[in-house]
Amino acid sequence: GAPVAYDYTKLEVGQQITVEWRGKPVWVMRRDDKMLQSITKSEGLVADPASEKPQQPEYCKNEYRSIEPDIFVAVGICTHLGCSPQLFADAGSLEGGWLGGYYCPCHGSKFDLAGRVYSGVPANANLEVPPYTIDTAAKMIVI
Ligand code: FES
Repeated sequence: GAPVAYDYTKLEVGQQITVEWRGKPVWVMRRDDKMLQSITKSEGLVADPASEKPQQPEYCKNEYRSIEPDIFVAVGICTHLGCSPQLFADAGSLEGGWLGGYYCPCHGSKFDLAGRVYSGVPANANLEVPPYTIDTAAKMIVI
């Protein structure tokens, strides 16, 4: 399919939108500092913190799994059996050692705000990061 271009300055800090890419829902999220801190705190709780499993783009092999720390792009499909994980970004959703992030209602898999899968849940891989580029001059993300 045709590439999807999105002006990420349209996003409020802390806002996430979903765009369609090759028939799949892709999230674009502008993370705030609190969200980035929660990713750092999740380090010891996630199964593949540095995204070392195969088939993940080079630019997601970092703590935030992104090219720009604040801009997160991921395919919004659970890596267990394909349900739609829901965003729980605020501290009010903390439970069971989970620091917030994405929760899959189908079988309870949890991911952090970088899409890194928690240890001990049914899903065993981080959420997929699609190929994308960021044009910082034009403020566009191209998926
Ligand atoms: Fe998400 Fe099973 S499909 S936990």
